[in-house]
This record gives sequence, C-alpha cells and structure tokens, in this order.
Amino acid sequence: MRIEVLGSSAGGGFPQWNCHCRMCQSVRDGTSRAEPRTQSSIAVSDDGDNWVVINASPDIRQQINASPRLARTEGTRGSSIRAVIVTDAQIDHTTGLLILREGLPLELYCTPEVAQELSTTYPILSMMQHWEGGYQTHTVDIESPDGWRIPAVPHLAFYPISLSSNAPPFSPYRNRPRPGDNIGLKIVDTRSGATLFYAPGLGAPEPSVLEAMKDADCVMMDGTLWTDDEMIRAGLGTSLGSEMGHLSVSGDDGMLALLSQFDNPRKVLIHINNTNPILDPDSPEHHAVRESGVEIAFDGMEIQI
Ligand code: MLT
Ligand code: MN
Ligand code: ZN
Repeated sequence: MRIEVLGSSAGGGFPQWNCHCRMCQSVRDGTSRAEPRTQSSIAVSDDGDNWVVINASPDIRQQINASPRLARTEGTRGSSIRAVIVTDAQIDHTTGLLILREGLPLELYCTPEVAQELSTTYPILSMMQHWEGGYQTHTVDIESPDGWRIPAVPHLAFYPISLSSNAPPFSPYRNRPRPGDNIGLKIVDTRSGATLFYAPGLGAPEPSVLEAMKDADCVMMDGTLWTDDEMIRAGLGTSLGSEMGHLSVSGDDGMLALLSQFDNPRKVLIHINNTNPILDPDSPEHHAVRESGVEIAFDGMEIQI
C-alpha cells in the first residue's frame, strides 16, 4: 500500500492567513526552519496508479497540482483520483468536495451521519448534484465488522472505527456528537496484510482505537495541539483542544504517551495546528517527538507499507 500525505496541517493551514502567532509569523518571515503546510488530507493506493483521497481539504487543487501521481491521466481531462472518503463533515476535510466539481461524478464514501450533515447544515452534496450528477455517495456502516471495498483499489479493505471527538461548529450535534460523526480508518492491504490506521481527529482513545492501533504497521494520529490550552494561552481562541475533540500531544495522557505503549513500525503525527511548536524542527518539542520514535508528517510525505 502506498500512502501520500497531501496536507499535514489542521484547519487553517500553516501559516494561517490571518494568524500572527509565533509559529505562523516565523514561517511567514523565514525566521524558523519550519515548512509551510496545507490542510488535512492523505491519499492511498494499491498500485500507484489509482488513488483514493481521504479527506478533501480546501487546498486540494494545490495538493493535486503538487502531486504528479494524482494529476496523471490518459485522456485530455481527468486524474488518478478514483474515489474520496471523508472521515467527518468538518470544513477542513470536506470543502475540497466543492473544488473537485470539474471532475464529477466521483464516488464518495462516508457515514450516514456525515452524509446527512453534508446535505443539510452544510449542503455541499445537494449543491454538487448540479455538476454531472455530483457525488455517488456510498454510506458506510460503522457497526459492520466486514468494512467495505472500493472497486478501483481492489486490494485494499477499509474498516471505519468510530472515534470520540466532536461534531463541527455548525452542526446541531456540536458538543453532543453521535457515533458516525467522526471515524478513523483502518485500511488493510489484502495481499500482504499491511495495515494503516488513520485518525486525524481523536479526542479520547477508546478500546476500539487501541485495538486498531495495536495491529497497524503505520499509525497516523491526531497531532493538532501540543497542550490542551495552547490556543487560549496564545490569545487565539477560547476553546480547549479537548473541547474541539483533539487529544493533545504532550502530557501524561497525551498522544505521545499513548503511542509509547505500541511498537508500530511507523508512528506519525498528522493534522498539526499552526500553533503547535513541533512544526519547528529546532524546538525542544519537535526533538521530544522525534526522540520517542514518532514522525511528524509533512506535505508530500510518502509511506509504503
Ligand atoms: C477541527 O479539526 O477541530 C476542525 O477542523 C477545526 C476547523 O477547521 O474549524
Ligand atoms: Mn480539522
Ligand atoms: Zn498561527
């Protein structure tokens, strides 16, 4: 299985257009060695020619243009993107569905809860029907132990794992999320058994998440914030990470401590907010992550398992 990181930052990207926090300012000014990052998305393939995009970020046009593999096609119009999966209805994971309009129709996989949100409070799917019929939406059942298959990548099996996080700010289910509002994905290459677990928005590690992490050759986990109160302390917001549905990286019960319980060959932090000091390769926080054997995703990162 091939994995490509299209966008490694959280909502807003890095630097965020209106943000003058220490990190954003340093990447804008070139006063740190931090690299700019686009918003949260990965792509997976079983042959390198046919790709499934997981989460469609507002930056998807730039991401496809930066990735010759995804842009490639035989005809005069087209790409190597055969399907899209969205793991929630958040703006940073779904706004790319608007940007992909020139390539419709396209297969889309998400939970019924996310499909409902994207047809009502943020009705992208209804709007997109005006472009060649829009998305062919397949709803996935988080209770099904069999997962699902996508015909264009026949050697990959997809298993949704319900995640404890939050519904988007615009959702009637904000602060009372339903099962299905947030999923992680376990993806298995049926030829080799190689397994990826991808969870860009994770508030609390429930037993099913620990189970999925245990067996994976590569885990790509929520790296949004270093500390829970990071946004508040920097004067940038009023919400804790935990209120937004993100487990912070540091701390006794944080993501690094969680990852230290497992010995996966690859452990990667992804969906990294622009305030998170791990984005600066010269920061002590960056070194602490790397010294614990955990990688920090960057745009264009390629992983093969
Ligand atoms: C989140 O991950 O909490 C959201 O995507 C934040 C946002 O983009 O508004
Ligand atoms: Mn997000
Ligand atoms: Zn910032």
